[in-house]
Amino acid sequence: MNIAEKFINTHELTKEEYVELIRLAESDVQVREQLKEEAVRLQKKYYGTDVYTRGLIEFTNYCRNNCYYCGIRNGNRNAQRYRLTKEEILDCCANGYELGFRTFVLQGGEDPYYTDEKLAEIVREIRVLYPECAITLSVGEHSKETYRLWKEAGADRYLLRHETASDELYQKLHPAEMKLSERKQCLYDLKELGYQVGAGFMVGAPGQQISDLAEDLVFLKELEPHMVGIGPFIPHHDTRYAEEKAGSVERTLLLLSIIRILLPGVLLPATTALGTMDPLGREKGLQAGANVVMPNLSPVKNRKQYELYDNKICTGEEAAECRGCLSRRVASVGYQLVSDRGDSRM
Ligand code: 5AD
Ligand code: FES
Repeated sequence: MNIAEKFINTHELTKEEYVELIRLAESDVQVREQLKEEAVRLQKKYYGTDVYTRGLIEFTNYCRNNCYYCGIRNGNRNAQRYRLTKEEILDCCANGYELGFRTFVLQGGEDPYYTDEKLAEIVREIRVLYPECAITLSVGEHSKETYRLWKEAGADRYLLRHETASDELYQKLHPAEMKLSERKQCLYDLKELGYQVGAGFMVGAPGQQISDLAEDLVFLKELEPHMVGIGPFIPHHDTRYAEEKAGSVERTLLLLSIIRILLPGVLLPATTALGTMDPLGREKGLQAGANVVMPNLSPVKNRKQYELYDNKICTGEEAAECRGCLSRRVASVGYQLVSDRGDSRM
């Protein structure tokens, strides 16, 4: 039995074995195919050919942090900053609801302008207007009390990528004030409060080794998040990593399959970054085991400004309606977009 078969049977390996698994898969196309087939089998077992959508509302690109890889980090003087008003956010929801979205994701930098109470008020309004929709927040690290306030206001889910589970790499990618232990604590707090939680990481982040990815897999198995967002690292021109190589699409697809096998019922998005690196990246993501897409619902006038990395797709006038575009793309590989909250089946 090779390591891939062992993984398929047990859904869990040691860190050293994950390294072996990734190495073997990257050197042997048959192993890659075997993992992909098993991932798709599990995807279909848990979710059929349904693909869930989340309407992404990027409501502020102000951020107090300075993650070295990110285009909207605080130190980037060239970023054109914007904030959506509560009315604009509610307009995005109304438009999204019309289009069939039943999950809204409010994503932004860590922007102190939106105080805990201000954001709670926005969540409360959305909760009253759309009782059958899921509300997801993605606004970084906060205290357990703040997370509790937002949960009581009506938020159901929270996305907070851990970025990398390797202490050393985490410290290389972030300023000293940011700590992996605090990031992990936030994720555990969120789970304890009853949020459906999304973690995740970048593939091909500067300096990332296969052993770092193995650590991500160990951490994911331990955390057991409801959702895992992964995408290739893509350089942004106004960061210290402007000249770095982007993460590989192939490796991202392999990791999607591995994560589907690791946590069979997990929600797994085919991300915008994957679609940016390859025009058919999101379709390939679904065919590797992903079952979620997160089209942009932000006002078209602001989309270019939420620039985490270069050449991000869906930022032009032509992308005013990502849902139609994605629904065709999803159908082209034999899946269908569904209008549903899309809770996890874990
Ligand atoms: N390339 C790819 N993904 C990035 N993110 C931030 N900057 C980049 C980049 N340069 C990801 C991070 C973050 C998510 C919102 O976007 O993983 O958690
Ligand atoms: Fe945005 Fe295709 S998903 S334009």
